Amino acid sequence: DEAELHARIRAAKATLGDRLVILGHFYQRDEVVQYADFVGDSFQLANAALTRPDAEAIVFCGVHFMAETADILARPEQRVILPNLAAGCSMADMADEDSVEAAWETLTEFYGDDDTVPVTYMNSSAALKAFCGRHGGIVCTSSNASTVLEWAFEQGRRVLFFPDQHLGRNTGKAMGVPLEQMPMINPRRPDLGVEADVLRDARVLLWPGFCSVHKRFTVAQIEQARAQYPGVRVIVHPESPMAVVDAADAAGSTDAIKKFVAAAPAGSVVAIGTEINLVNRLAAENPDKTIFCLDPVVCPCSTMYRIHPGYLAWVLDGLVEGEVRNEIVVDDDVAVHAKVALERMLAALP
Ligand code: 13P
Ligand code: SF4
Repeated sequence: DEAELHARIRAAKATLGDRLVILGHFYQRDEVVQYADFVGDSFQLANAALTRPDAEAIVFCGVHFMAETADILARPEQRVILPNLAAGCSMADMADEDSVEAAWETLTEFYGDDDTVPVTYMNSSAALKAFCGRHGGIVCTSSNASTVLEWAFEQGRRVLFFPDQHLGRNTGKAMGVPLEQMPMINPRRPDLGVEADVLRDARVLLWPGFCSVHKRFTVAQIEQARAQYPGVRVIVHPESPMAVVDAADAAGSTDAIKKFVAAAPAGSVVAIGTEINLVNRLAAENPDKTIFCLDPVVCPCSTMYRIHPGYLAWVLDGLVEGEVRNEIVVDDDVAVHAKVALERMLAALP
């Protein structure tokens, strides 16, 4: 039963002490978040993995690409564990290495220069981070995408951005890149489905990936919130479609959303376009404000939700018994290049 499960988790944490660090993404359910030593956005959690080099095991309550990143950044002796191996990210799955390699070859041939810089969103496989490492590219997260794009434009004329079209488009637009210079490619088409003259002038080539949670937010929802609550402040995650970001008052990473809510004065109303577990937590933590999700139909990230306390208890029991369950291991030849792209991101930040 539930009580027994939670008692097991608490007992394992007490036994393991400093040998263990538990990281939790903001989208995790409260029953899991309560056990996390660090809770944060994907950038903060990548850094958190670095702040505990003494811990033997990093249990990552998040999704697969986050655990891979922790394994790449952690010391080789540290073991990274994903409580449920089925916790992936549908957006990360929308760009596979072969398709990116094929598109890259087409672009290299078309441009005949080495002025294209690959930029991968953190929400991608380690193989794609390694691709960026090998080709002079870089990783970004939603909290640093414009700084990273600026870095990329110092290296070359244009960027190939994957997998999230929305983060790429929203970031490029905020930097003043005209929409016509941000075509979306179709990796299934040999010519990438973009007219040659458009391709020639392109500054940001967008991959057609998206987040199934954030693509649900609409301008109509924002209009309705504004009609219902005059003076409402609206903040959305930049994985939302461009029209939604434009209609909102602000866009930012999960941590930026948390800070936005914290900074809102008592009595204010804030409508949020992001995953429901975070929105509900912010509502509970800010009882003096009215906080609600733009989407009236509950929208959890179904893969984040796969980290059930039962899986957490199971991997922690394993550690107590000296058994590493559900370990995430990135091959050394991939990790070494992926680390280059991640370190470029860290170095590009102010
Ligand atoms: P953050 O980097 O804002 O935490 O976002 C991660 C994510 O998966 C959002 O969908
Ligand atoms: Fe992936 Fe979207 Fe879930 Fe984030 S919210 S982990 S982008 S599916």
